[in-house]
Amino acid sequence: MLCCGKGTNRSELGKKQQTWRVFSLRELHAATNNFNYDNKLGEGGFGSVYWGQLWDGSQIAVKRLKVWSNKAEMEFAVEVEILARVRHKNLLSLRGYCAEGQERLIVYDYMPNLSLLSHLHGQHSAECHLNWDRRMSIAIGSAEGIAYLHHQSTPHIIHRDIKASNVLLDLDFQARVADFGFAKLIPEGATHVTTRVKGTLGYLAPEYAMLGKANESCDVYSFGILLLELASGKKPIEKHAAVKRSITDWALPLVCESKYDELADPKLNGKYVNEELKRLVLVALICTQVRPEKRPTMPEVVELLKGISKEKLSELENDELFKAPHAADYNDGTSIAEDSTDFISEERDSKQELKEENEL
Ligand SMILES: Nc1ncnc2c1ncn2[C@@H]1O[C@H](COP(=O)(O)OP(=O)(O)OP(=O)(O)O)[C@@H](O)[C@H]1O
Ligand SMILES: [Mg+2]
Repeated sequence: MLCCGKGTNRSELGKKQQTWRVFSLRELHAATNNFNYDNKLGEGGFGSVYWGQLWDGSQIAVKRLKVWSNKAEMEFAVEVEILARVRHKNLLSLRGYCAEGQERLIVYDYMPNLSLLSHLHGQHSAECHLNWDRRMSIAIGSAEGIAYLHHQSTPHIIHRDIKASNVLLDLDFQARVADFGFAKLIPEGATHVTTRVKGTLGYLAPEYAMLGKANESCDVYSFGILLLELASGKKPIEKHAAVKRSITDWALPLVCESKYDELADPKLNGKYVNEELKRLVLVALICTQVRPEKRPTMPEVVELLKGISKEKLSELENDELFKAPHAADYNDGTSIAEDSTDFISEERDSKQELKEENEL
């Protein structure tokens, strides 16, 4: 089977999940060839990620943090260990950490098929690995992972940065949601956590961008954007001439006119299941309604995507939202998001960024 990332060995990946442990800085230096530029997978808001190989041959991804470099060793260890306990088939679990001197690093399993972003808009987009079945399974799998974070993990976790680069793909193209570790942990009983806005332009729920109020429904909004991206292959915000258009503003009128075929990613060459595409897009749009109380919960999203209840699907289809575009229920979120550039980054394919850096 063709893999997009570094060479890999199926039997090694098929092994039981590795146990959690503390890594020494020396070991991580050796694994990543001293954090060599050639090993760099990309750079995000918290630091750089490097590919590495341990002495036993297993492949890892090491996130070298910049933001938390001053966090005390003990405090860092406690926080990371809480996250390490969160395990689900669709979450990228932590394999370990290193806290020595000023260095704070987190170790994950390396995901050979990289991120959804690299397949939709990045270095692997021309290869067309994402057929319809894979897209549907990525949609349902990542929804299950987020539903687990919201409702089953202890403590409950709001992700706060759901986007295509944070959905990684394993050898079988199953989704693994990454970076939930950087979310604020919700204390029991609290309804929301107010925090500085962290997120990525195009995925931010309007109320989060404006008020910095993070709760589960902000993740639902971002997930809706991700679903539209997965179905259409379009970016959350696209530029046409000087005008920016959000993916929701583009999709809603097409749904109201039942033009589903225009919503499908042209790279699918018409090979998709009509009913599933329709379901995916309808769910995406109810997730991205401006009023948070109108959005479904993640377990409801999972149920709708799976198409379990015919009744609920027909209810969804007959939702007022799809009768005609409602200005009040929809805005593109861009004008708000652009004002809050503090801590907001525009999503780009990391390898592309590295390439551009190289060309300078
Ligand atoms: N375990 C992994 N296996 C393979 N690629 C990974 C792994 N972890 C991260 N990456 C890739 O490395 C790059 C950098 O990741 P990083 O999380 O630092 O940035 P990001 O996802 O773009 O933004 P953010 O900081 O908001 O999460 C991304 O392209 C990401 O998909
Ligand atoms: Mg990330």
